[in-house]
Amino acid sequence: MKIAIIGSGRVGSALGTRWAANGHQVIFGSRDPKSAKVQALVQSIGDNAHAGPIEMAAQMADVIVLATPWGDATLEAIQAAGDLSAKILVDATNPIQAGFQGLELSGTTSAAEQVAEWATGARVVKAFNATGAGNMLDPNYDGQAVTLFICGDADEAKRIVGELGSELGFDVIDIGMLFMARTLEPLALLWVRLAYVQGMGPDIAFKLLKR
Ligand SMILES: NC(=O)c1ccc[n+]([C@@H]2O[C@H](COP(=O)([O-])OP(=O)(O)OC[C@H]3O[C@@H](n4cnc5c(N)ncnc54)[C@H](OP(=O)(O)O)[C@@H]3O)[C@@H](O)[C@H]2O)c1
Repeated sequence: MKIAIIGSGRVGSALGTRWAANGHQVIFGSRDPKSAKVQALVQSIGDNAHAGPIEMAAQMADVIVLATPWGDATLEAIQAAGDLSAKILVDATNPIQAGFQGLELSGTTSAAEQVAEWATGARVVKAFNATGAGNMLDPNYDGQAVTLFICGDADEAKRIVGELGSELGFDVIDIGMLFMARTLEPLALLWVRLAYVQGMGPDIAFKLLKR
């Protein structure tokens, strides 16, 4: 599969590294694809990784992952990607306020729903937002798989994104329509607070238990 990752930071590099190792073609859509940072990332991943301008990456991909800071950066990334009609757009962003006190939007809306409005016609799937980048590199805790909650309005897009999560070792749970991101973004805030305010550190993850 051809996967474009917009944002070559912690989340983008973790997901890109794993999917490239699994044989997917990963292209980082970057504001500056020739930068030393992006070139070093691509070289460290190897043959299956490339970098290019955001629009080129997005237009050649089957699946596009948004791994950008929330707010203007995410809007700019979507605008730079060009026409996203019918594209599978994975939203990993979190609208967490500076200082980790709350969310910039929540309650009756979510970042995912705002992304869907900005990316006209895209099939948006919320995923990979409520766990740390380190867990994307390794979602295995002593034989237990970290739960990956996903949601979206397009079933086929969710199925494909779910498979991309399962192959990384996550226990994928489809929680329903895109508006359910209203529950996943606060979950990300909880993860961040446990890790960095309560001092548990990033080697923590959520697991849904079933009986
Ligand atoms: N860190 C985590 O553990 C984690 C976990 C789950 C979800 N998230 C969420 O995922 C998103 C990314 O987090 P991160 O920690 O990976 O951030 P990060 O390390 O700061 O990386 C963000 C990347 O976004 C790109 N970017 C920044 N401004 C941009 C703009 N105006 N237009 C286009 N691209 C832009 C940059 O890549 P280029 O310089 O190559 O353009 C940058 O490397 C955030 O919304 C975060 O809340 C983070």
